[in-house]
Parts: sequence; structure tokens; C-alpha cells
Amino acid sequence: MWWWLLGVFSCVLLVVVVIFFLITGQRYKVFSEKCLRPPGPLVTDSRQRDDRLKRGFRVDRIPPSLDAVVIGSGVGGLTAAALLSKAGKRVVVLEQHDQAGGCTHTFQNKGFEFDVGIHYLGQLHENSLLRVALDQITDGKLQFTRLEQHFDTLILGQADQRREYHIHAGKTEMAASLKKQFPGEEEAIDEFMRLMKLASRRTPLIAILKIIPYWLVNFLVRTGLLDLISSVFRLAATNHSEMMSRLTQNKDLHALSAYLFYGVPPKESSFLINALLLHHYKRGAYYPRGGASEFAFHIIPVIQRSGGAVLVRASVQRVLLNQQGKAYGVTVLKGQEEIEVHAPVVISNAGIFNTFQKFLPQHIQDKPEIQSLLGMVRHGMGSFLVFVGLDGTKEELGIDNNFNEVPLMYLSAGKSCMTLLTMARYEWFEEWEGTKLGKRGQDYLDLKNGMAQELLDWALTIFPQLRDKVCVNVSTPLTNVHYLGAPRGEMYGAEHNLERFTPETVARTRPQTPISGLYLTGQDVFCNGMAGALHGGLLCASAVLNQILYIDLLTLKTRLKHRQTNHKLT
Ligand SMILES: Cc1cc2nc3c(=O)[nH]c(=O)nc-3n(C[C@H](O)[C@H](O)[C@H](O)COP(=O)(O)OP(=O)(O)OC[C@H]3O[C@@H](n4cnc5c(N)ncnc54)[C@H](O)[C@@H]3O)c2cc1C
Ligand SMILES: *[C@@H]1O[C@H](CO)[C@@H](O)[C@H](O)[C@H]1NC(C)=O
Ligand SMILES: *[C@@H]1O[C@H](CO)[C@@H](O)[C@H](O)[C@H]1NC(C)=O
Repeated sequence: MWWWLLGVFSCVLLVVVVIFFLITGQRYKVFSEKCLRPPGPLVTDSRQRDDRLKRGFRVDRIPPSLDAVVIGSGVGGLTAAALLSKAGKRVVVLEQHDQAGGCTHTFQNKGFEFDVGIHYLGQLHENSLLRVALDQITDGKLQFTRLEQHFDTLILGQADQRREYHIHAGKTEMAASLKKQFPGEEEAIDEFMRLMKLASRRTPLIAILKIIPYWLVNFLVRTGLLDLISSVFRLAATNHSEMMSRLTQNKDLHALSAYLFYGVPPKESSFLINALLLHHYKRGAYYPRGGASEFAFHIIPVIQRSGGAVLVRASVQRVLLNQQGKAYGVTVLKGQEEIEVHAPVVISNAGIFNTFQKFLPQHIQDKPEIQSLLGMVRHGMGSFLVFVGLDGTKEELGIDNNFNEVPLMYLSAGKSCMTLLTMARYEWFEEWEGTKLGKRGQDYLDLKNGMAQELLDWALTIFPQLRDKVCVNVSTPLTNVHYLGAPRGEMYGAEHNLERFTPETVARTRPQTPISGLYLTGQDVFCNGMAGALHGGLLCASAVLNQILYIDLLTLKTRLKHRQTNHKLT
């Protein structure tokens, strides 16, 4: 029985440490119901939008006496910046692209607006933690439209033996519809759903590994106590195929359980992360009203209100370190000149590789703490996208769904834009590394257009209406280097392999870095997705403020829920 006592002991220890942080941390009042404003009409005037999203970097626009500088304006950077601003800090966000938003930026061609990195989002039902957090950093201005219950279609197999599966959202509907499509697999589906729920409920325990001290994590791992606290740590460190083969031998069900593909095959990926991705959409898939650029559009005013700013065309070159090795600012390339921007806190949203390999001098990179951290992660896969504009509304075109073909292709249709997506290796395009956008030469164009045509041909077999396409834009991993600052064209930052979800790596990839004053935010801190990047921002702001903001957020969430039930009663 002794190990149970040890299990209890470690739980108590965890709680004590968390309480210790709570008491010693300064208390900032970051969240409140009062900030929520009713959402106004969509701002479509491009001057007004550009004023906010495309405010260029200029020395006279850098706010004085900054509390923090954030490198990169993805959801991870903007979330961290907005949370610090809400705590009264003055923050500047520096973005290398000509508009803010990172993966949530959009671009136009022939009157079509294409989303780069947001197709649909989950866990946005009323009073979900994610919804409450988003409301806080946008003053309640962001609105979402729920997609249909049947939000995804999965196609498996070659033309002659094509199988189609439909994914339905809904607390009970998801399982029910799967059972209908996989007769005889009821037990496996129930067990999968149970594990999925467990994964989702216990993920905060994984996040805690990023908050408690390393020695405690090491102690819990070495003594085996971690597995006694919760089985979620084992779910995280078990490969998807292994876990699924315990549940069922049905290959299609295996494929479906990991269909939200991010470049790592099920044999090598963490069961936890696949389960979390599917669970993300269990209560419905959503799309931001007005498109993905609404994220940055509504977060930026919150940063400005505290005297901060979000400036674009500001490519950060280096993190400045003083003699004690502490970060005190960054440099931005302006023409031939490097301009210094000073702040006692530097937050990087540019990913783990840019942060340590690009922004820091070689002798700092070579430090064992940094080398061991870099040794734990790998570059993720690149993406290849074909953006297709179609004439006609989606009803006229008869497109009403997202389509997925495992493992190759992802296809989504919204409005009358369609995106064909497949993963692509950086190596395929590496020979054109260093060439400039639009000037990469004929060979590159031939390769790119050839691949795009293959994708289009395939998609035509399902969507004949693609024949009437109005415009097409194609993006390769090199495009990601240019617009997203992804060093090897990564689509989702560092690779989401099994290694990344072992307790040691989880604990090491935290916002705090071996450099004092330098923090990480975004998808490399926890996991990919808009939600993943936002949690990266929450963890980062918690680390900077030395206050676990999740506790404040949960308190607010409970208060909002109570208020609502009271409302309904009266
Ligand atoms: C094709 C695609 C489809 C996707 N679909 C979905 C989806 O349907 N749902 C979902 O939830 N998620 C989706 N995602 C994932 C999601 O968009 C990302 O995981 C998330 O937005 C990442 O946010 P981030 O803040 O971590 O990083 P990013 O958004 O990548 O932000 C990093 C920012 O740092 C900037 N930067 C880099 N280097 C520098 C520098 N030196 N100086 C200044 N700035 C710099 C970059 O320009 C960029 O703006 C998709 C991603 C892709 C690529
Ligand atoms: C998946 O896990 C099982 C059991 O631990 C192991 O035998 C198998 O080799 C793993 N697969 C890969 C590709 O690592
Ligand atoms: C999209 O393609 C058009 C040509 O078809 C080109 O003029 C435009 O610059 C492209 N847009 C982007 C953002 O690459």
C-alpha cells in the first residue's frame, strides 16, 4: 500500500507548490467581466483595418519606457502581450511581416480573402475556458459562427475502393455517429471516447509540469510517482498506434482517430495529442465571424490601451544581452541599420529555433542548457497549400464541408474559398533557400505548379466545380519562411513527436528559458493550433507576472457561469 501513500504525498506536494506560487506571486488584477463590450458591426473599411493591422515600424512609434517587447504577432505573441497589458504593463509587439496576426493573417486576391492558418476552431461553446480567455483579450469583441453538426468528411482509400466517413460534433452525437458508421466497434468507440475525455480533463496536470520547479518534476519521474498521480502522463508518452491497437483492429477506425494530421504518423505520435485534437471539436467546430484576421484586429486595441503598440515590418535580428547575460531588449532591422528596442522582459513568439539559433550569439547558443533543450525538439514538417477562389456562394457551388484524406490532404471550404493542403518537406525546396519571393526561378515554379496541379486534379474528382476556379495561389515551405518566419517552413513549429510529450521535454519547453529575462510564447510552449498558441501565451504571461493566470481565469469562468444560471432562474 506504500505507493498509494506516496501518490497522495506527491499530490499534496504539488498542491503545496502551487499554493506557494500563489502566495508569493504578486497579485495583478488581469481579468474582469467589466471589460466585456457588445460586439459591434464588422469593420470592413480597409483603411481602418490597415491602420491597426499594418502599422509600420518607426523609431518614433516605439512607446517609451517599455515593460516588455514581444517578437512576433501570432496568437501566442498577441495573447501574452494583451495579458501583460491588462496587468498594466506597456508592451510593444514587433512583427517581421507587413501585417499582424502570424498564422491568423489573411491575404486577398481578385476580391477573395484567403485564410492562411485557420480553418476551424473548437471548444468555443459558451463559458468554455477558451471562450472566456478570448473574450478577455478582445474585450468580448470577437464572435464565432458554429459550423454544421456534420463538420468534417474523411475519405480513405484509392478511387476504386473509396470509403467516406462523416465526423459529427456534439456531446453524444460524435460517438453515436461513429458507432453507426462502425457497427461492431461500439466498445472500442466508447473506450476511445473515455480516453479522449480523460486526456482533456487531465491535460492541466501536464501544463503544471511547466510551472513547478524542475527538481520536483525529476523527482516525480524518477520515483515513478508521476504515473500514480494520473494516467494522463502515460497517455502522453504512448504512441497512437500502440494505444489504438489495444482498442480495435479496425484500420479505418485507427485512421479516423488520428485524422487531424500534423505531419507525424500515428506510429510516432502521442496518443494524447491526437485525442486532444479530436476532442477539441467534440462540442462543435467554429469559425471567427469576419475571418481569421479578426483575432489581431480585436486584440491590438487592448495592447494599445496600456500605452503599447503592435508594429509590423519589424524584423528582429538579435536579443540584446548585458554583461550578466540577462536580456534587455532586441534589435530591429530598418534598412541597413539595426535599431535597438529596450525592455527588461523579452518574449519570443518566433519559435524555439529562431529564438535560440537566430537571436542569440554563438557562444550563448553553445551553452549546455541551451544545447540540451534544442536536442529535445526537431523542426516540424512544412506545408504545401493551394488557395482556390471560386465564383458563386458555397450553396450555389454545393460545397458544405471540410474534407480530409489521410494521410495526404486536407481540404476545406468556406465562403467560396477553398484550400487544398498537404504536408511537404523543406528538403524538397531547399535548393531555392535564400532566393527572394517571386524571384525563385523557373525550376521552382515548375515544381510548385506541378504539385499544385496534382492536388487540383485529385480534388476535381470530388469537387467538379473546381474546374471553374477564378484564382489560385500556391504556397510552399519557402513561403512559410517568408511570411511566417518559420526557419524550415514549419507549419506547426517544433515537431509534435512522441518525445515532445515525455514529462522531461514537457517540463523543459516552458516559457522561462536559460536566459534570464527571455521568455517563449506560442505553439512551441504547449502545442499547435490557435488554442495551443493561446495557452502558450497564458503560460508565458503567468511566468512573467509570477502569477498563475489559470486560477484567475477559472475563478472568472465560475463567476460567469453562476451569473448566467441565476439569470435563467430569475
Ligand atoms: C495551413 C495551416 C492551417 C491551420 N489550420 C488551423 C485550424 O484550422 N485551427 C487551428 O486551431 N489551428 C490551425 N493552424 C495552426 C495555428 O494557426 C497555429 O498553430 C497558431 O496560430 C500558431 O500561433 P503562434 O503564435 O504560435 O505562431 P505564428 O502564428 O506562427 O506567429 C509567429 C510570428 O512570429 C513572427 N516572426 C518570426 N520571426 C520573426 C522575427 N525575426 N522578427 C519579428 N517577427 C518574427 C512571424 O512572422 C509570425 O507572425 C493551422 C496552421 C497552418 C499553417
Ligand atoms: C509504439 O509503441 C510500442 C509499444 O511501446 C512499440 O513496440 C513500438 O515500437 C512503438 N512504435 C514506434 C514507431 O516507436
Ligand atoms: C496570388 O497570386 C497572384 C497571381 O495569381 C499574385 O499576383 C499575387 O501576388 C499572389 N498573392 C500572394 C499573397 O502571394
